[in-house]
Amino acid sequence: MRPSRRAFLGLAGSVAATAVLAGCGSSWFTAGGGTGSHGALLPSQVPLPDPFQVPLPIPPTLEPRNGIIEIAARRSAVEILPGRTTEILGYEGTFPGPTIRARAGEELQVRLRNDLEIDTVLHLHGGRTPPEHDGYPTDLVTPGTDRPYVYPLQQRAAPLWYHDHAMDFTGPNVYAGLAGMAILHDDAEDGLGLPTGERDIPLVVADRSFDGDGAFAYPLADPSRTRHGVTMRYHGGVLGDCVLVNGAPWPVLEVDAARYRFRMLNASNARRFELQLDGVPFTQVGTDLGLLERPVERSSIPMASAERADVVVDFSSVPVGTRVTMTNTLDSGGPGQVMQFHVVRRAASDDTRVPEVLSTIEELDGDAVVVTRDLHFSLGPTGSGHHGMAEWSVNGMTFHDGDVFTSQLGTLERWRLSTDVHHPVHAHLLGFQVAAPGGDGLAWKDTVDLRPGSGAEVLVPIEGYSGRYVLHCHNLEHEDMMMMVNFSVA
Ligand code: C2O
Ligand code: CU
Ligand code: CU
Repeated sequence: MRPSRRAFLGLAGSVAATAVLAGCGSSWFTAGGGTGSHGALLPSQVPLPDPFQVPLPIPPTLEPRNGIIEIAARRSAVEILPGRTTEILGYEGTFPGPTIRARAGEELQVRLRNDLEIDTVLHLHGGRTPPEHDGYPTDLVTPGTDRPYVYPLQQRAAPLWYHDHAMDFTGPNVYAGLAGMAILHDDAEDGLGLPTGERDIPLVVADRSFDGDGAFAYPLADPSRTRHGVTMRYHGGVLGDCVLVNGAPWPVLEVDAARYRFRMLNASNARRFELQLDGVPFTQVGTDLGLLERPVERSSIPMASAERADVVVDFSSVPVGTRVTMTNTLDSGGPGQVMQFHVVRRAASDDTRVPEVLSTIEELDGDAVVVTRDLHFSLGPTGSGHHGMAEWSVNGMTFHDGDVFTSQLGTLERWRLSTDVHHPVHAHLLGFQVAAPGGDGLAWKDTVDLRPGSGAEVLVPIEGYSGRYVLHCHNLEHEDMMMMVNFSVA
């Protein structure tokens, strides 16, 4: 095999590792104290339910009709904690929003109606979308209006997601519920024999906290929204103490003793998870941007904000009556629990399989790289931001500083990403070619998790459309507090 070339694609690279540790001093914006995440815990003000009591909700599916899907963003009152009402902002009034299922390669039009009292922007995360439809943060859809977003979807089948992307307020808006999955299917994937239908289930994992009256608690610095950002303590990120899966607290899913496919998404603002099942491995078949080349068995799967893992779990040898718990090994107590699977019956039939070869990923040739870019994610100069403290930045720049770089369509770039604290880095439009989890083969991702003081190198083909896009940290508090920059494709 070609170890040397593949080696540099690894995410565990130590690019500039020593140089960037300097930013990790003491104080509120660093640690996350034993949560495995950057940020501060916001304790709920109501008692939280016992885990594994509430059934896992399956969001309704929306499929295009004549290539069109209509979605309204609106406020609604839902029951999340048993016996209490929580107001959410949700697509079609639910959290998560409906699961969009569409065909890769077929144009999709999503007509968004804004029935909220605030501006919103729709972004298809992982979509290869022309700039005018990508949900640029200042392309606001104002209250009472609607707009069509046109997605050519010239890309692989993949578990994408959609969420609000309004300038300065993506954190509170997504936290309030404006997120859902958008799964792209294609014929090649349909032919593999992976579990489908009722055994192909999205798992949208997100932490939340509740205030005294059962509402989602979010520490906006200025609730009137004349200023962006959260109160100082949460400058590093908002961590909730209640884990929701598909909008339900620590739910339980009754399953057959059969194979299931789970499209797992970490839709948290800041929390990282390392998901583990007791007694059953995950067979990972795909990442953010589609299938791996070969399946890889993993005992646990780390997921930062916005990352997806497409997995198959085989319950066929689990005795009926068993409860299989999914935990988060990065934390303990409530945030250390995720959900449970209760194996309730033998499967009448299960003719699904996980083939040895899932897809072909053509290895990019590092020698063809025309530009190598160093992108450093860190706190900017002290005092540059609101409340007199530093804002997050990329190479010391923020959204208001013009383009960080301009790339040429049709070329190949290498990005060397480095960091001070924890930052999951996401680019719009572009995909990153990286080593597959487990190191065997390649994978496509749109979000790369950078651990404190570490780095990663990724190969980035500049494909799609020319225009202006954003590159940002997907810790949404960091993003709102300026760790989002512009780049252009020429
Ligand atoms: Cu998930 Cu810029 O977004
Ligand atoms: Cu995105
Ligand atoms: Cu960040």
